[in-house]
Amino acid sequence: MDIRSALRSLNHSETLLINERSDELEATGKVHRFGFGQSPFPVPESLRQALADQVHQKAYAPVQGLPALRQAVAEFHRLEDQVDWQAHRVLIGPGSKLLIYAVLAAFRRAEVALVSPSWVSYEPQAHLAGHPVHRLMTRADDEWRLQPEALASFCAERREPGRPLILILNTPGNPSGTSYEEDHLKALAEVMRRHEVLVISDEIYGRLHHEGQHRSMARYYPEGTVVTGGLSKWCGAGGWRLGIMHIPEALAGDLLPALKGVASETWSCVASPIQHAAIAAYTPSPEMTRYVQRQREVLSYIGQQAAARLNAGSVHTAMPSGGFYLMPDFSPHRQRLKARGIDSADTLCERLLTEARVALLPGSAFGMPTGDLTARLSYVNFDGTAALAGNLPMADVAAPVMAGIDAILHWLDD
Ligand SMILES: Cc1ncc(COP(=O)(O)O)c(C=O)c1O
Repeated sequence: MDIRSALRSLNHSETLLINERSDELEATGKVHRFGFGQSPFPVPESLRQALADQVHQKAYAPVQGLPALRQAVAEFHRLEDQVDWQAHRVLIGPGSKLLIYAVLAAFRRAEVALVSPSWVSYEPQAHLAGHPVHRLMTRADDEWRLQPEALASFCAERREPGRPLILILNTPGNPSGTSYEEDHLKALAEVMRRHEVLVISDEIYGRLHHEGQHRSMARYYPEGTVVTGGLSKWCGAGGWRLGIMHIPEALAGDLLPALKGVASETWSCVASPIQHAAIAAYTPSPEMTRYVQRQREVLSYIGQQAAARLNAGSVHTAMPSGGFYLMPDFSPHRQRLKARGIDSADTLCERLLTEARVALLPGSAFGMPTGDLTARLSYVNFDGTAALAGNLPMADVAAPVMAGIDAILHWLDD
């Protein structure tokens, strides 16, 4: 039986792959690990304690999620985002990644529009769900943000306007590190409304907006925006696998039952102890406020320093405003790189890894064209526990990140 030709062509996620290669290389010396987007901060103490206290929870939870958790999540987001989150329209899932996939899988027919650059998993997920993907290009000068005019002209030229259009937007952005402001979201909302776009707004880095100025897409386009988030980034708990999603009232009647169908036929429920513990994360407390505030200060400081140093070395990098990523653009060095046999982001990242021992991910993994010289840099290779404790000067906390940036710049100068 020939199963190979019958299998889907799916690759191992590029982010996980670079991590494995960095592990191998590390056996022979230090690697500056900018490849993997995992929070360096520990899970807050109260949350760890809550999980320890709930370890006896052994029953399956309701498919949609524990009512008390959905209630806490809805109240939290109503307050934080000033959007009408309602517990009966919240769905809890094993990570926001699977929740995004559930929305795509719930549709038999749809088109998916993705911003370039955007997160590595959206496109494979759309293909798994059987949907065609369109790329909406952005520019470094626009800080890699989708322009309303670009969305409008794409919508106006669609060949099958009757087919549902799902747009995945992400703010603060991975890989861009930049965020959308109010006026920009309002202008996008106007286009989305006109063309009845269904938006999945991936706001997993929302709480990590460096100035606490996250703006939810749902505030400006409530009727068509499904919001996703969860504990992975702002609570340093990626491995806990707790994601949340909110469905707008206008879509809930049709979409929510379909999503519950996907959930009940696949993951059943998120681990009960994790759900019980997560209530503590979504219940405001002085500890959680301090924890989030300190992360913002650290990420802002390191992100600004790292981007400024890259720019000083003529590696064009948008100043970050949220999360922990930068999107350096090496094209000002194009001629010199070409002379060294480097004319794509893939070769650039390969050579940076083997020659400078710096792990970055190529822009091509995020939907950038081949031949482009962008890469993603996750500035998380610092000691998050020490950073949270606040006993070290910020420059010392940032030192491992800055050492990696210097290694890139020295390599460019060689
Ligand atoms: C933009 C973006 N969305 C979603 C996710 C997935 O998060 P979760 O752990 O909630 O599945 C990630 C994780 O890296 C991410 O960077």
